[in-house]
Amino acid sequence: MITLALSKGRIFDETLPLLKAAGIEVLDDPETTRKLMLATNRPDVRVVLVRASDVPTYVEYGGADLGVVGKDTLIEHGGQGLYQPLDLNIAKCRVSVAVRDDFDYATAVRSGSRLRVATKYTAIARTFFAEKGVHVDMVKLYGSMELAPLTGLADAIVDMVSTGNTLKANHLVEVERIMDISARLVVNQAALKLKGAVLRPMLEAFAGAVRKD
Ligand code: PRP
Repeated sequence: MITLALSKGRIFDETLPLLKAAGIEVLDDPETTRKLMLATNRPDVRVVLVRASDVPTYVEYGGADLGVVGKDTLIEHGGQGLYQPLDLNIAKCRVSVAVRDDFDYATAVRSGSRLRVATKYTAIARTFFAEKGVHVDMVKLYGSMELAPLTGLADAIVDMVSTGNTLKANHLVEVERIMDISARLVVNQAALKLKGAVLRPMLEAFAGAVRKD
């Protein structure tokens, strides 16, 4: 049995065409079913639905043989023990620094003031500001980062930006683009050895179906 870990939403939706290219069709719709383990048209392949941030953990410990996870989540997890064969070029967005539209970020950075930064991406943010030589006090949040500058909890946030609509709706502006994000395939290394005969053709089919743009 091959177990694939996916998170609901964009990653699930955008992984479906890649699965199809490998001859795999998921038989349930995660938006309507309450099931967390979904069958496919292949009796030897199943999908488990987990939180995005849990995908690397499932694959690392063998709860799943492979999974699809955003580069942001992978960096925060550390990626240890995971074979990362493929950038799937899906679920694309970016991680950026944003501030209130009336906050003078450039001056704050130039003057060497300590910045209070709220984010769930603490590893990415820490590395970014350390490389810039900016001192930061990090405030760990788990969601709705946009509220932090509006309520005075932080000067800046490090968050995912896709269309930019959420920032705009909350009077925030993007002041630095830290990195582009896309979803990656991660594979359990032991599974690749033990189930290679089934896994390798799947990986090849995914690789052949990745959009190049
Ligand atoms: C992300 C991010 C922003 C929003 C940005 O949240 O945290 O809130 O998307 O998208 P936009 O630029 O197109 O407006 P998501 O819905 O992925 O959920 P999350 O808060 O769990 O990250």
